[in-house]
Amino acid sequence: MPARLEPTALKTHIRADYDAAAAAWGPEIGPRVFRVPAERLVADLAPRRGSRSLDLACGSGLVARALAARVGPDLVRACDLSPAQVAGARVALRSVGLDGIDVRVMDAERLRYTAGSFDIVACGFGLNHFPRPIVALRGALRVLAPGGRGGFSVWQPADHPIGRRLDERMAEVLDGRLADEYVRCAEAFARLGERNSEPHRLIGLMEEAGFRSVSSRAHAFTVDYRDAATFVNLVLGREDGALRAARLSHGERTALRHDLIRSLSRFGPRAYRVRRGFVVVIGQKPSA
Ligand SMILES: C[S@@+](CC[C@H](N)C(=O)[O-])C[C@H]1O[C@@H](n2cnc3c(N)ncnc32)[C@H](O)[C@@H]1O
Repeated sequence: MPARLEPTALKTHIRADYDAAAAAWGPEIGPRVFRVPAERLVADLAPRRGSRSLDLACGSGLVARALAARVGPDLVRACDLSPAQVAGARVALRSVGLDGIDVRVMDAERLRYTAGSFDIVACGFGLNHFPRPIVALRGALRVLAPGGRGGFSVWQPADHPIGRRLDERMAEVLDGRLADEYVRCAEAFARLGERNSEPHRLIGLMEEAGFRSVSSRAHAFTVDYRDAATFVNLVLGREDGALRAARLSHGERTALRHDLIRSLSRFGPRAYRVRRGFVVVIGQKPSA
């Protein structure tokens, strides 16, 4: 059993990882992979117009955007651990006329909002990143008003041929180039994701945190990665932290990109339409 990483060390790794991925997130990763789940999370929560709403672990702000369409832009707030993601969210929200949404750098395990200040807390694929999800859930409950609702989405495991092939090739290329500390953090991050994505465990955690009427709903949709070049660019954007940690030069990055595209070229167009599953868990703060 590997030694447990301190939450602070793990968060430092996660923040750096998402900082590095931010450039690709707003324009490419967000719209292609996270937009539909963000809209479904908010549809499941069905907030009424006028509900004060928080997008927790906002990334590029897709959940905030879906919330704003329903409750009105002035009532939405958003926060994320990664300063670069926060900067990206501000740009993305401004580009669609939503610059009134206040976006802050904040750790979900240490929320600084006033108690009872939201009717809705929506968190898209954040819970599987928090080293102590029960702390984050108690914090979400604290900032909710009595009767307010929290909704959390988590991915279900995915296993598809293009992902497997790309992971194998990336592992071969990066083998021996990443410092032990980076590998230890990346493995701990992956374990965290697996543990915190299990719907029954999440329902139990939400009840333990004090949420009531907790229920879950399974969703599936198709991510269209289009072709090998689009898929590789998207994954390399997401893995930019690893490429930086491995100190890949510009030339080596270009060679890696070509190598990956070549090794995926045997897959036909249907392989790039990938079915993904996720679960939305919703609970209510008891009325006072
Ligand atoms: C998979 S992304 C999802 C982004 C966005 N919610 C969406 O659905 O498009 C996960 C986000 O969680 C953020 N995050 C990770 N740990 C966090 C923490 N402790 N507190 C706040 N945000 C965190 C990351 O920086 C990243 O932006």
